[in-house]
Amino acid sequence: MNNQEEKFIKVYPNSETASLYVAGRIASLIVKKSELGQKTVLGLATGATPKLVYKELIRLHQYEGLSFKSVVTFNLDEYYPMQAVDEQSYRSFMNVNLFNHVDMPSENIHIPDGTLNLEAVQAHCALYEKKIQDFGGLDLQLLGIGRTGHIGFNEPGSLVHSTTRLVHLNDLTISDAIADFGGKEHVPSQAITMGVKTITQAKEIILLALSQRKADIIQQALEGGISSHIPASFLQQFKNVEYVLDQEAASQLATNYCSAVTNP
Ligand code: PGA
Repeated sequence: MNNQEEKFIKVYPNSETASLYVAGRIASLIVKKSELGQKTVLGLATGATPKLVYKELIRLHQYEGLSFKSVVTFNLDEYYPMQAVDEQSYRSFMNVNLFNHVDMPSENIHIPDGTLNLEAVQAHCALYEKKIQDFGGLDLQLLGIGRTGHIGFNEPGSLVHSTTRLVHLNDLTISDAIADFGGKEHVPSQAITMGVKTITQAKEIILLALSQRKADIIQQALEGGISSHIPASFLQQFKNVEYVLDQEAASQLATNYCSAVTNP
């Protein structure tokens, strides 16, 4: 990675400070766009990583007057098959961790539908893409990173021009989900995910990675070659990406690279 790109990496002392920074970025964007009378179109992620970001956004809503009335959201992915009401669905995750606690109109919320018959999935994916475009594209996409290097559920082998589609989950991703599902046999083997192209067309992208568990894949994704083996490495080609890391997730980055990082 060259010097030009280094300024897009921020390393914070811990997961809390990193998450507060990301929540602040999202809140500022919402305020700025709503002052202009515009909607804010957010791409959202699930998993352990964004939980503190959502917690802070809820606090900003409850105590500091941040309104989500002008916010439109598109989630990255959903397991397939998956009933929306299931505890493990990403729709439930979003309801519990954000949507139930803010004033976003329910019609503004978009999450891939895991309940469809297989024959209906392709048209649903095309419509998901169209809806994002109809809203003028994603203003900001929040990403985590899986230990396979996936962004959304774009597992190794995903192509840079991929769009929203049905995919098979990698074995490591399935293993990482066992705790949530209470057994490997309960983890769905497929998911509907935005593609790499869908993600990289966002005007801004923030990839948040927290904890030692992500140190190895962060090193590969940021400093390794660009390859479909590590889909997150495709982000190196785009200028609109900011990597927000805690110190543990940044711990395997090269020394000179770490010297360029920013503290709050
Ligand atoms: P995690 O998942 O936040 O639960 O680590 C991240 C991801 O798989 O993208």
